Amino acid sequence: MVTQQTDSNESVAQNITRLNLLAPESTCSTDLASNPWDTATGYGPGASQEDKIPANYPKQGSIPQQYLNASDAELDTRILAAKEKLGEKAVILGHFYQRDEVVKYADFVGDSFQLANAALTKDKAEAIVFCGVHFMAETADILSRDDQAVILPNLAAGCSMADMADGPSVQQCWEELTALYADEEDDGRMPVIPVTYMNCSAELKAFVGRNGGLVCTSSNAATVLEWAFERGRRVLFFPDQHLGRNTAKAMGVPLEQMPMWSPRKELGGNDSQTLLDAKVILWHGFCSVHKRFTPAQIAKAREDFPGVQVIVHPECPMEVVDAADSAGSTDFIQKAIAAATEPTTFAIGTEINMVNRLAAQYPQHTIFCLDPVICPCSTMYRIHPGYLAWVLEELVEGRVVNQITVPAEQQGDAKIALERMLAAKP
Ligand code: 13P
Ligand code: SF4
Repeated sequence: MVTQQTDSNESVAQNITRLNLLAPESTCSTDLASNPWDTATGYGPGASQEDKIPANYPKQGSIPQQYLNASDAELDTRILAAKEKLGEKAVILGHFYQRDEVVKYADFVGDSFQLANAALTKDKAEAIVFCGVHFMAETADILSRDDQAVILPNLAAGCSMADMADGPSVQQCWEELTALYADEEDDGRMPVIPVTYMNCSAELKAFVGRNGGLVCTSSNAATVLEWAFERGRRVLFFPDQHLGRNTAKAMGVPLEQMPMWSPRKELGGNDSQTLLDAKVILWHGFCSVHKRFTPAQIAKAREDFPGVQVIVHPECPMEVVDAADSAGSTDFIQKAIAAATEPTTFAIGTEINMVNRLAAQYPQHTIFCLDPVICPCSTMYRIHPGYLAWVLEELVEGRVVNQITVPAEQQGDAKIALERMLAAKP
């Protein structure tokens, strides 16, 4: 069981390096222990290594040899020195799933939306160094001032779930659906409202903004769906089928009214009547980290630790959410643990870096990851301290590298979709 194999005093990367020799079967890929210096054509070792990469996936070019050769101690000294020189001119953001070796330099640690907003509170920051994944950096670019540069230290840090919905496939789906619903009687509501999870490209945020829809996060998905149902008969929800299904099910939408849309199939693989009867059309996307959690893991945790509190992320499959005690966003999970006044055992269904950090932060509780195999979000994991040292030292020299810039034609509509989400807040 992973709780015996991992050591919460060690970072996930240190655990992986140690277990690679002692118990390689306890990590999902022995390649995790190697450095991420390649300009890989794949997502890299980890939970998403089996996922298919879209043709336009950003590639990280090579970085100077000095960063590849530097020891951990040297990188530490250099990062701290660059941070000191930059002062308030740069703000470093770290997602909850980011590795400890990088998160320790962050000025803010949080979920994707908290981080995008955190950058706004740093008025003097000319550079926002986002130690997360590509869609998070894009969101920060949409919300930040034009004179602030958003930097993603490793361009290969994408999100395989976000990449499961691309602009042309969603446009094709939209055209098929709007044609199908064109003959319906007008009752003052839109036939279908597009809702996208924050984990998507800026192109898709702009698409929903343009078409009367909005963005949601895992903490406000129910509020956003309520907003959409007040204005439309149905919702097209992408890219995460699980967040869509779990949220709509909790609101009372029957499973038969939630067909799945498989891109590249005619009518997404459905017949017309199913789509006419639908309340929520779910895109065939998922997170490879959260897909690993199973009801059997929960049953085992309950057997091993009677009284255990099981909390999972709503990106987990429905059977897992149903078997858990509660489900919620990364922020929800963290707050639930912070609120526990008595020593408690928590089994958590989310990314291992966050779970291990919570275990170290709250030693009065027993906290472990439901997945017995260490399998970090492989794209987040690609932000190695070497990349952070590189982008910071370039900034000290007045050069911006790895800037993430959302095209001007997407900025406005994407911002509308985000603002609708904020306005929908209860
Ligand atoms: P948050 O929106 O909670 O930061 O989660 C992002 C994510 O990628 C979860 O897998
Ligand atoms: Fe994307 Fe899953 Fe990683 Fe989150 S955990 S960034 S959804 S691949």
